Amino acid sequence: MTPLIDPFARPISYLRVSVTDRCDFRCTYCMAEHMQFLPKKDLLTLEELDRLCSTFIRLGVEKLRITGGEPLVRRDIMTFFRTMSRHLDSGALKELTLTTNGSQLARFADELAACGIRRVNVSLDTLDPAKFAEITRWGRLPQVLEGIAAAKRAGLRVKINTVALKGFNEDELFPLLDWCAQEGHDLTFIEVMPMGEMGEEMRLDQYWPLKDLRARLAERFTLTDLAERSGGPARYVRIEETGQKIGFITPLTHNFCESCNRVRVTCTGELFMCLGQEDMADLRAPLRAAADDGVLEQAIRAAIARKPKGHDFDYSRQKVAGQMSRHMSHTGG
Ligand code: GTP
Ligand code: 5AD
Ligand code: SF4
Repeated sequence: MTPLIDPFARPISYLRVSVTDRCDFRCTYCMAEHMQFLPKKDLLTLEELDRLCSTFIRLGVEKLRITGGEPLVRRDIMTFFRTMSRHLDSGALKELTLTTNGSQLARFADELAACGIRRVNVSLDTLDPAKFAEITRWGRLPQVLEGIAAAKRAGLRVKINTVALKGFNEDELFPLLDWCAQEGHDLTFIEVMPMGEMGEEMRLDQYWPLKDLRARLAERFTLTDLAERSGGPARYVRIEETGQKIGFITPLTHNFCESCNRVRVTCTGELFMCLGQEDMADLRAPLRAAADDGVLEQAIRAAIARKPKGHDFDYSRQKVAGQMSRHMSHTGG
């Protein structure tokens, strides 16, 4: 089987699949307060998701990350994780994982660990309950902290994803760092990306470049750049004084596209070759039309053959208006 290689000689080994556009939170940089969610019939069924992921794995995908919306609010999602774990058992898949808001982790952490999941990425932008309720519009911080604690007890490694937001969590840099050190969690900061139809101006005002955050860290600590990559877009530094490894995802100040190894599928089966581009291929039609996975495989190969070199995000004022109208919750990050 010829593996998936894009026009820029980048092997595609990482698939991100969104299993729902729904979420129990409404983070202001991710969703509008009143979202029109998709009708159920538009979503890929669990069987279709299985066929889709299994086909990608046959074509060389080794890392599968389940996203949303919030993946753990999809009904019966544990059935999907259980069936996917067969690819871990066979050795075809090296990592099965998910990105979650943590709200349902207390319920599912043990089962996830039993399915072969070794680590989870949890989005957490603040440790202040009032600010947490503000950014998620109604989320309860203790519920998420309980979820994270349950994941740790279940033996899962936890990576905290914090979106860096000027005027919102600048003052929490060191508290977050301390808490992660104390709990043994990895920590990655993410620059806010211009997605969704609302609040572009607001997002622009909230944009806190990670080079500034890094400079703040460097005032207090000795930072060493690490060459290692996780197979994701983050770059890492080690804080010599604490031994902590901190990730930075900087789609806007540092272009990491040259080593891109991933594509993403939305919950309706649209294959996006790049998070920051509009081009996509519909995989739901071949999934629903043909029982034969060969047609699906052809559609995937044809799409990978036009994977672009990189994204188009740009915060210069002129380019912001009318940019990416897709919601992050639709594409799954
Ligand atoms: P690791 O396996 O822990 O490296 O995970 P990851 O960083 O690949 O996944 P995660 O879901 O934690 O993503 C963190 C952030 O990176 C999210 O905000 C994603 O939207 C963003 N991200 C992931 N892949 C890409 C990409 O290809 N381009 C851009 N611009 N951002 C991405
Ligand atoms: N910019 C940057 N990160 C975002 N996320 C959601 N929306 C945005 C955005 N506009 C993050 C979440 C989560 C990950 C999947 O994507 O915080 O950690
Ligand atoms: Fe939900 Fe995550 Fe979007 Fe927040 S960022 S609304 S938790 S999908």
